[in-house]
Amino acid sequence: MDPACNISGRLRLPCFELLVSHFINPRWLLTRVWSYNSVLLSVDMNFHQSAQSILQNDYPWTKTPFIASAPMARVAKPPLAVAVSRAGGLGFIAAGYTSENLEEVLDEAAELIAEEPIPGASSAAQGLPVGVGFICWSASLASAIPALKKHRPCAVWLFAPPNDYNDLVPWVTQIREATSHHTKIWVQVSTVADALDVIKTLQPDTLVLQGSDAGGHGLASGASIVSLVPEVHDKLREKQVSTARPIPLVAAGGISDGRAVAASINLGAQGCVMGTRFLASPESQIAAGYQKEVLRASDGGLNTVRTDVYDKIRDIHGWPNRYNGRALINRSYIEAMDGLGEEENRTLYMEEMEEGGVGYGPKGRQCTYAGTGVGLIREVMSAGDIVRSVMREANQLLVKGGSKARL
Ligand SMILES: Cc1cc2nc3c(=O)[nH]c(=O)nc-3n(C[C@H](O)[C@H](O)[C@H](O)COP(=O)(O)O)c2cc1C
Repeated sequence: MDPACNISGRLRLPCFELLVSHFINPRWLLTRVWSYNSVLLSVDMNFHQSAQSILQNDYPWTKTPFIASAPMARVAKPPLAVAVSRAGGLGFIAAGYTSENLEEVLDEAAELIAEEPIPGASSAAQGLPVGVGFICWSASLASAIPALKKHRPCAVWLFAPPNDYNDLVPWVTQIREATSHHTKIWVQVSTVADALDVIKTLQPDTLVLQGSDAGGHGLASGASIVSLVPEVHDKLREKQVSTARPIPLVAAGGISDGRAVAASINLGAQGCVMGTRFLASPESQIAAGYQKEVLRASDGGLNTVRTDVYDKIRDIHGWPNRYNGRALINRSYIEAMDGLGEEENRTLYMEEMEEGGVGYGPKGRQCTYAGTGVGLIREVMSAGDIVRSVMREANQLLVKGGSKARL
């Protein structure tokens, strides 16, 4: 059990007792409330700092605030992940829906790192300073294990089990065993109930709290990180959840700049994940039309939507019912809402693909996954510059605001 929880638990005397025992002396009361709050604050800071130092300990090349790039299926390949880690973040490669060619992919990452080692992360004994993300209802654990055993990436990111989190027990135990516990387990969740369930069932090393603003797939119904992160943070303390070590909380969804990172840290996260922001980097493997749309789009709450229309027209079946994906609104979506049937919509999409897949934007049919933070992205920057500039901005704000959660 985190000793901090114990202390704060003991200190929670009911107000009534305080009043009666000290005859309602307002001055005394003010002093006590102030020092009580200070103790709680310092208790909370202790937890924040120890969870934070766990991240720094697990990934010693990273800088603060802790920033990771999301394992974006078909987009996040070794060049992006390595560039993010090289800049002091943690880059995730997406295995995505399949683990079939994972060994080749990790070979490529290892070569990139061997060509230009990452200070603080470069000995072979430390394994790969990048993570790998799996969409677990679809990817194969059996085919992933040999590659994970060979390369020992610093983390795996598990997302979307077919039924419930018990499905991930073999993932967690076999990956820990195959990598002698070197590879840390990250699990992405989107509700308070799932966060508590995952901690109990899987004892992950890090919990990714994905809010509803996130680009790509996530829970069809959920809260934004503004309420999700603090509620999970509070619930873990309230319930005095017992884990071998504090589990860092990492916020994801709608984070595009240092302001959102600083806000997430103040909400109770120890780090942040950005996905959509890295779509506007040369290291992301996306079509030029897709990237252009990411730069053009604004007002993400209005111009993106959570839907399963794009999966249907692209013949991607198998996502558990609770999930859908957030993408920019385009013609396929508008026409589906106007009543166009799935088959016909798919045919039109396929026809456009045959023409070279150039139809991006509101009048096109190419799917453009992006989060609501898309409107804040105005230029293509190298992944390294994104990490550095977002960290700089967040640090300035955290210092300026005198945040107690400052890193
Ligand atoms: C294009 C794209 C592909 C994604 N693919 C995956 C994936 O394969 N696995 C996964 O766990 N999350 C995936 N996500 C979701 C991210 O993990 C993350 O939660 C999200 O990008 C955070 O929100 P943001 O895009 O607003 O930064 C994807 C997101 C995007 C934008």
